[in-house]
Amino acid sequence: PNVQALATSINKSSLVPERYVRPEAKIEPVASTDDIELPVIDLAKLIDQEFSNEEASKLHLACQEWGFFQLVNHGVPEDLMEGLKVDIAEFFSKPLEEKMAYKQDNDGTIQGYGQVFVLSEEQKLDWSDMLYTMTRPIVLRNMKYWPTSPPTFRDNIDRFSLELTNLASCLWNYIAKNLGVAPEVFAQLFKDHPQAIRFNYYPPCLEPDKVVGHSPHSDATGISFVLHVNDVQGLQIRKDGEWITVSALPNAFVVNLGDITEILSNGIYKSVEHRVMIITENARISLASFHSPDNSIMLRPLPEVIGDGKPNYGSISYQDFMKAYFDKQLEGKSVVDMLKL
Ligand code: SIN
Ligand code: FE2
Repeated sequence: PNVQALATSINKSSLVPERYVRPEAKIEPVASTDDIELPVIDLAKLIDQEFSNEEASKLHLACQEWGFFQLVNHGVPEDLMEGLKVDIAEFFSKPLEEKMAYKQDNDGTIQGYGQVFVLSEEQKLDWSDMLYTMTRPIVLRNMKYWPTSPPTFRDNIDRFSLELTNLASCLWNYIAKNLGVAPEVFAQLFKDHPQAIRFNYYPPCLEPDKVVGHSPHSDATGISFVLHVNDVQGLQIRKDGEWITVSALPNAFVVNLGDITEILSNGIYKSVEHRVMIITENARISLASFHSPDNSIMLRPLPEVIGDGKPNYGSISYQDFMKAYFDKQLEGKSVVDMLKL
């Protein structure tokens, strides 16, 4: 069911339906210090010869200790960011029938307007709706899932997807160097890499403590970028066993390394579990841009990283990895754990 419509229809007499009630989420410890600031990486410094080494060291530490960082001065034009944000908010504010013109099909992909995979009758549901689009390379696009209204939406998604693809490629250079790997190796693994963008809508809830906006998971990507579309926070990451609410600077990207990078880096970098929580007052709107390796690669720790040491993960084709990831219902980080030696 559409969660936005459900949230609108619920009043005090009809509370959260059982399938959305998540008591387990409340048992896990949440860090008492709210809103810890993630490490901030300044791209302008990273590409400036004078500051590059120092900033690259900060990047290395952030990747090792957090698996997450905020990227500022990233160079994505402000008017594009603002225009896209307005488009996204406008799309989600449209009547349900209009959004349903872009609904997901039962074709094994999650493209379109709807929810994340529902794999069984027992599976608890997330308190969110999404619009999921494959964006690059262009041959992967299916334009029937790209809204034509607001009229600037498609063009803004197109421009934004190019900016983010370039940004991902730029970061791979520094990540490679930090790992002692030739940048060409990462450039090859992520050449013309697939990118998907998911636009998320988390309705407010009168009983926010009962629901979870996005279940705990780690991303099956190389690298992911999150943009807060309105200023409502709610993203939490698991650090040292506790959930920490992260707040982001205005227009910064919250960047995280995915499972693919954890394996390639032989575990030097971690793909950290995260989730989204809900509040009473406001809807939260965000977007996530996912950057994956070429479909045909074999996934294994890079020999350059292993050096004289031992691999900490077994190898698996990327396709088998993805199959296992979806079979595990997006819960926890079990596929990466399965590969641990
Ligand atoms: C996610 O993609 O893991 C959630 C992104 C978000 O809404 O913060
Ligand atoms: Fe995620």
